Order: sequence, then structure tokens, then C-alpha cells
Amino acid sequence: MLLVDGDCHALHGECSLPALPPSFKGTVGDRLDHVDGPRRTILIGCGKIADFDAEERFWESAGASAIDALRALRLEKASLIAPPSPRQIDVQSATNHLALGATLASYRCTAFRSKPPMSHFEIAEFKLPAAVWKGTARIRQLAESINWARALVDAPANVMTPQAFAAAAQALVEFGVQVRVLEQRALEKLGAGGLLAVGRSSEHPPCMLVCQWRGRSGKDFDLGLVGKGLTFDAGGLNLKTAPGIAKMKLDMAGAAAVVGALRVMAQRRAPMNVVAAIPLCENVIDGTAYRPGDVITSLSGLTIEVDNTDAEGRIVLADGITYLLQQHQPKRLIDVATLTGAIVSALHEEFGGLFCNDESLAADLTAAATRSGEALWRLPLSKRQNYLVDSGIADVKNVGIPGLFGNAAGSSIAGAQFLQKFVGDTPWAHLDIAGVAWATRPSPGIQKGPTGFGVRLIDALVEAAQSHVMSS
Ligand code: BES
Ligand code: MN
Ligand code: ZN
Repeated sequence: MLLVDGDCHALHGECSLPALPPSFKGTVGDRLDHVDGPRRTILIGCGKIADFDAEERFWESAGASAIDALRALRLEKASLIAPPSPRQIDVQSATNHLALGATLASYRCTAFRSKPPMSHFEIAEFKLPAAVWKGTARIRQLAESINWARALVDAPANVMTPQAFAAAAQALVEFGVQVRVLEQRALEKLGAGGLLAVGRSSEHPPCMLVCQWRGRSGKDFDLGLVGKGLTFDAGGLNLKTAPGIAKMKLDMAGAAAVVGALRVMAQRRAPMNVVAAIPLCENVIDGTAYRPGDVITSLSGLTIEVDNTDAEGRIVLADGITYLLQQHQPKRLIDVATLTGAIVSALHEEFGGLFCNDESLAADLTAAATRSGEALWRLPLSKRQNYLVDSGIADVKNVGIPGLFGNAAGSSIAGAQFLQKFVGDTPWAHLDIAGVAWATRPSPGIQKGPTGFGVRLIDALVEAAQSHVMSS
């Protein structure tokens, strides 16, 4: 396979192109099957570098185009003639991003078909110095972790129960992550009243997954992660409507992003100590279901007025956050959650919502977002909007207020304000990924479906932070 850009230059210094028909413009999706004696070369259009928001994205897209071509031509393997190009580029970086795009594009969810379709597409060899190809090992681990997170989200809720998620996370043990599961009894002993209330009505009991990655000496933790792990969110007694309920197996995408990020960290032995708490449960209905109007006591001791049983994510996250603060006092805390439909209205699928109480953490996350390509948009977290979650009967209420137009006003902000009640003074960020966790339109390497959003972002954050840790 030979990569060709949108000006019909081969992206390789020494390659000359065969005579090209006018229909081949080198745009993304263009392909030309060129047979020259025993040699078959497939030319892959990659588009113009200037049409991408960063050079890295161009190379990712090119890697994805190569795999898409294999898939379309039903070929399992090919070798790729890629960088160096005539341009001044960093060959290692370009190759890394090619490999990332290719590995992401090779993901498909095939586990639930009785006759799995052809699913193995691989670039078996890069025509490059061996050291450059070897240098892609780290980024391919990243891509594999993203694909793992995507597969966890793709698995339907009848399969991906809280217990199944906890079992799947055991895969982290092989990389050196300590994995523990707090079962329902342990949660009762602790007093995790939030997670227990939300998960009570399911035949699959709630549990909390606790993972530790220790990449440096010392007992303290540089980072705490909390991932929303609703294996299904029917809304509870405030039952969702048909269009809203259909995709709600995705409500554990935050949890998947956290375990995916831990997998990369451990695989590359990041010199940081990271602890994660992942509350897992299902928000459904039976006679024991928690009700609108109920007041529950969270693990922190703060009481919560349940105004709407469909605002369950923040309730279970609160217990996850408290668990980390009580047990491990991480220096920084990030929660990742498909928390609100309103964030989809505000930002759609290209930006995750960022709420943060600490400027340095916000700056680090924003920088990581830019580097990783997983974009964030910051939203306000101001004392002036604390009142949104004031309750007439308890310490805090789980939804905001009806606004002037009868919709929940500032609903995503209300979610963040609720969570803030539980974080104390710890530098903390809340990532609302309800819009970015699932793609309704394809982008390079990511077809419609789970995106694995958060894995790359956290990986980039950890990579940048580890230099601080090591120098301090
Ligand atoms: N899991 C949903 C949020 C969601 C919506 C995720 C769409 C992905 C796509 C969450 O638990 C929820 O139901 N939130 C409610 C809160 C409301 C009742 C205050 C919402 O946003 O509608
Ligand atoms: Mn809900
Ligand atoms: Zn939910």
C-alpha cells in the first residue's frame, strides 16, 4: 500500500507514482488498485494536510484510510509504504499516528454475531527503519487500550453487568494493577448509601471496583480517578422514554475510559501512583427501587434528596469520590461520566464538558486535550450557581431547577455543583462525556459507536504530569 496525499504526491521520498487516472484525486476514500506484474500496489488517498486541524490527525486519518481500504478490498494484511515524505516531518511521530489510526480503525464489535464477519485487518509491516516501527509500540498499546474500552461499552447490558465489568477489569492484573471489588455486603458495611440506593432494584447487585497502579515508591497517590459505571440506565421510576433509553448501555463509558487509561499507564509503567474507584450498578425498576422524594445518606454522610431517579450518576459518583478521599487522599481527582443529556445539547459530539475547581488542573487537562485530540470545553463552576442543588429537606438535591422555559436550567452545571459538594478542597475536574462517548457520525479511526473517549486524554495528562512528579 502506498499513501498518496491530496496533491497526488506519494508520501514517501523515493516512490514514484504510476500514471494516475483523473478520477484519483488523493482525497480521503480514494483508492487505486495498481497491478504491475507480480506486484500489487494499492494507492490510498489521504487528503490534504492543511484540511486537518493538526498534523497528527492527518497521519491518524491516513492510517485509518489504509485499514478501511483493506476492509473494502477484503484483504487481511498488507505492508505499508509511508513516511518519510518529501516534506519536513518527524518520521517517528508521523508513524506513531499512522499506527494509532490504523489500530483504531481495525476495531469492530463482532463478538455478538453467530457468524463473525471477517474482522482481522492488519498492516503487517511498515517499510521503515526497524527502530521507527519499534518506536510505535507505546502508541499501539494506547490504541489497544482504547479499543478495549470501546468493546466494554459495545457489550450490551444483559452481558455487561456490574459483575461482568468487574471480571473484565481483572485483565488489568496481568499488567501489575491491583484490582479489588467491594461487593454489596462490603458497601453496606461502609455505608455507601448512594450506590446502594441506585443499584438496589436490579437483579445484578451494585459493587465498587477499586484499582491501584503504583508506578513509583511512596504510599501517596498523585491522581484519583472515578468513572461512572451504570451498566444500564433505564432512569428508574423516572423512566426514560423510548428514544432516550435505547442507548443506555453506554452509561458505563466513564468507567471504561478509566480502566482503559489504567491499562495504558500500567503497560508503559508510568512512574505515578494512581487510584481509581468505579461504582458499578444498574438503574432499573422493581418494588425496591428508590423513589423520587426519597432522602438517602451518602458515604460521606451528606444527605441527598432524590428529586429525580434518572439523575443517578452523580449519586453513585459521590460515593466513589468519597471512597477515594476517605481511603487514599489523592492529590488530584478526576471523574469521568456520561452525566447529562444537556451536555449533548450544549457541545454535541466533538467536545467533552470540563468543570474544574483548580486552575492548574484545568490548564493541564486543556493541554492534554489539545495534544491527544480529545477536545474539552470548559464550563462554569461558580459559587453563584451553588443554589441550583439546594434542597428544602436534605443537604443537597440531585437535580437543578426548572428554568424559565420549563426545561432543567443549567442541567450539566447542576450536575457539577452536586459533585462539588463531595470533593472538599481537593483539586478536582469533572468530565461530562455524555456527548463524546458515542459517535453518531464516523471520524477517522472511529466508526459510529463507542469512541473510548477519555483514555487518550488521561494518558496524555499522565504523561505530562509524570515529568512534574519526577522533577519534584
Ligand atoms: N445517563 C444519563 C445521561 C445521558 C444522556 C448520557 C444522553 C448519554 C446520553 C443520565 O443519567 C441522565 O439521565 N441524566 C438526566 C439528568 C436529569 C434527570 C437531571 C438528563 O440529563 O436528562
Ligand atoms: Mn439517568
Ligand atoms: Zn445515567
